[in-house]
Amino acid sequence: MKGLHVNLGERTYPLIFEANSLAECGEEIHRHTPAKIYVVVTDENVDRYYSDTVRQSLEAVGSACFIYKITPGEESKSMSTAESIFTWLLAHRFHREIVIVALGGGVVGDLAGFIAATYLRGVRFVQIPTSLLAHVDSSVGGKVGINHPLAKNSIGAFYQPHLVWIDPSTTRTLPVREIFNGLAEVIKYGLILDRDFFGYLESHLGDIISLDDTDSLMHVIHTCCRLKADVVEKDEKESGMRRVLNFGHTIGHALEKLTGYAYFRHGEAVIWGMLAATVMSQQACQLPSSDADRIRALLHRLEKPPVPHDVTSDSILDAINVDKKMTDAGLQFVLLEAIGSCKIQALEPEIVRSGIEDMLACQ
Ligand SMILES: NC(=O)c1ccc[n+]([C@@H]2O[C@H](COP(=O)([O-])OP(=O)(O)OC[C@H]3O[C@@H](n4cnc5c(N)ncnc54)[C@H](O)[C@@H]3O)[C@@H](O)[C@H]2O)c1
Ligand SMILES: [Zn+2]
Repeated sequence: MKGLHVNLGERTYPLIFEANSLAECGEEIHRHTPAKIYVVVTDENVDRYYSDTVRQSLEAVGSACFIYKITPGEESKSMSTAESIFTWLLAHRFHREIVIVALGGGVVGDLAGFIAATYLRGVRFVQIPTSLLAHVDSSVGGKVGINHPLAKNSIGAFYQPHLVWIDPSTTRTLPVREIFNGLAEVIKYGLILDRDFFGYLESHLGDIISLDDTDSLMHVIHTCCRLKADVVEKDEKESGMRRVLNFGHTIGHALEKLTGYAYFRHGEAVIWGMLAATVMSQQACQLPSSDADRIRALLHRLEKPPVPHDVTSDSILDAINVDKKMTDAGLQFVLLEAIGSCKIQALEPEIVRSGIEDMLACQ
């Protein structure tokens, strides 16, 4: 069993990594968060494969386990779903000693975490991520929340889990598009923080996509969690360094927004955003062209839908201007000085435009 800690003083918590381990999660969950009642929040897809295993494992330690299923998809990360869950919890008269267990992708993790942060002013919370994106990103770091019709992820909290149980084998049932979705974030970590890891991805991408090699998948997930934990430990509430995790996200978010959050998976939009940010990094940060060529080569190996024709550089620039990364200092971007080394810098609009135009031209 591999482990890591996210060190945040009294909110420190372990991440446990073990392939084919869901059937054994109950004992460890009970050790870290002893409870008579566990409430597992999951979605209908994940429920089909994994709820019974997790329930049986929790019941085997003598606890009761209740399952709450949501409809899969981003629409469920809403106030109305949250309200339905609050109603259900209150109707069951669940007290503050329960533990909420998020079993699923980032949607379930963010929503269940929001419920845990607010139900009776906070109950304990465990993450069992099941999508690659959740393994490497959303389950670590304590950002929880829901969407508001006016802005994604705008209602929420920083609320750390007590334990994150990562079984990489759950990726086997993931639709292939969700693998690419998660891989975008995986490559992002290499680009901003770890040149050797980027090199590892160049040589192992095929194995990871085909899920043939459990060891490389485990290495990838473990490395990403270690890198994210390091960042979160330095800047839990995103007042500084944590913003580097937004590499490729300013333009990625604009693309998601302009296409109604229904056309791109988040990671797919971020792949396009990272391609644009690579050009901006060449112009504003002297990213060497040999590095830029390697970045483009790897990003183009990830499947993603093209940017629709009605999305123009003007519409993207408009969308960015209302993005929350707009500050008095101008448009702040995460840029690369080299693969594995990044910085945050304000950019002139012309540089942003040329990065976007290059991205639109390279499809
Ligand atoms: N909290 C954070 O720090 C953070 C970071 C990144 C993203 N997010 C959020 O995460 C969400 C996206 O997460 P996601 O990409 O995991 O989406 P998701 O939770 O919608 O999962 C993607 C799809 O895969 C299915 N699925 C998940 N695991 C499965 C499995 N093992 N087998 C079969 N099907 C499975 C789900 O039912 C869903 O249909 C967004 O809402 C985003 O805002 C949060
Ligand atoms: Zn992201």
